[in-house]
Amino acid sequence: MINKPRGTEDILPKDSALWRKIENTIHEVCENFGYGEIRTPTFEATELFERGVGDTTDVVQKEMYTFLDKGERSMTLRPEGTASVVRAFLENSLYANPQPTKLYYIIPCYRYEKPQAGRLREFHQFGVEVFGAARATVDVEVISLAVNLLERLGVSGVELNINSIGCPDCRPSYNEKLRAHFEARKDKLCETCLGRLEKNPMRIIDCKSPVCGEIAQGAPKVSDHLCESCETHFSSVKSGLDNLSITYNIDPNIVRGLDYYTKTVFELTSNALGAQSALCGGGRYDGLVTTLGGSETPAIGFAMGLERLVRILGQQQEAETNGCDLFITTIGDVALQAAEKLAYTLRQSGKSVQIDLLGRSVKAQMKYADKIGAKYSVVLGDDELGEDKRVKHIVNLKNMQTGETKEDVLIAELVNTSDWGTFFNE
Ligand code: HAM
Repeated sequence: MINKPRGTEDILPKDSALWRKIENTIHEVCENFGYGEIRTPTFEATELFERGVGDTTDVVQKEMYTFLDKGERSMTLRPEGTASVVRAFLENSLYANPQPTKLYYIIPCYRYEKPQAGRLREFHQFGVEVFGAARATVDVEVISLAVNLLERLGVSGVELNINSIGCPDCRPSYNEKLRAHFEARKDKLCETCLGRLEKNPMRIIDCKSPVCGEIAQGAPKVSDHLCESCETHFSSVKSGLDNLSITYNIDPNIVRGLDYYTKTVFELTSNALGAQSALCGGGRYDGLVTTLGGSETPAIGFAMGLERLVRILGQQQEAETNGCDLFITTIGDVALQAAEKLAYTLRQSGKSVQIDLLGRSVKAQMKYADKIGAKYSVVLGDDELGEDKRVKHIVNLKNMQTGETKEDVLIAELVNTSDWGTFFNE
């Protein structure tokens, strides 16, 4: 027996209905908000993430699936979508189209993390990224898209937390204050954070080590050290959210775990998720396009963990079963052949139809039809077949829920009627 790799999941038919519902709702919402879908490769040059996500982040330092391909190039399975989407934005000159560029994606991501409930090594993200719009209006649009998706899916109990983490104008002086705070407590910091002290002290704030976490508690907050432009931007984001009646908390502790963020950052969290409470994270990243070789382009986006969304929804609602419109019960092999033909005709017309594939007794077939939730059934035996051994043009249709039978239903009617409830005056 070979088992699946640690931290991966099989999505089985009993759950895939919920996945499809989520994916369909994502496509709908994104279309309503005017976002186009983008699909990028599962692996990219390692350097893209080192430069994009940042070489002092946990993701790059500890969690990437990196390998040399047969041409000795260093490749990495994408740990997130933003860096790839920025690369694609530049490589395909999307900036030459009328701006802004509004994109979304549903992708698998890979992080070598310690697996636990809600934390996987292969997981899926729904994300959006907007390029070329600096105004707070777009921050509000992006946040409202995430909120609206959850609303449409009927997810409750999710909190929106927002913060601003400054820009290249105010960050350096804040970093100095932060560095001084950690410098004074240097002997207790973990090895990785010692390395971060010089280069990027903000990364120490989201270190997963409990000791570093405790030291970070007393550190100066970035939101107390914003420049005027960041303050104004943040106020506009807040009033924009108020305007849409979207409630939020201001959480000065959000700094996000990836290096590219500037100004607005936000997270959606849910108590239903336990320790891994982050359902969605995002923010503005006005410097990343330049870091990756493009000209100055403001940008913002978020990503939502789909396994976490499935967990919440799975707890909230019963999993849906695969639909089955009709089960054709057969008596004997000749009837089975006729059933194959009838099932094929009905399936071609868009009906979901099942027949007995195991040679069960009639009684067992009936039981099975019940178990799989078939809405209607017909029985095919000698009486229903004509001289040519095909189904005569009529069948007796049984409503499995009420037990009622409608006699002599034309097969052509079965093919042409979209809702068979009408045969029973439903
Ligand atoms: P992130 O916060 O690293 O942000 O990930 C976004 C979401 O992905 C998390 O809130 C969580 O739901 C899910 N997630 C992350 N790691 C795991 C894991 N190991 N197992 C299961 N789910 C996980 C980003 O990735 C940014 N690219 C978001 C963004 C887009 N910012 C701007 N644009």
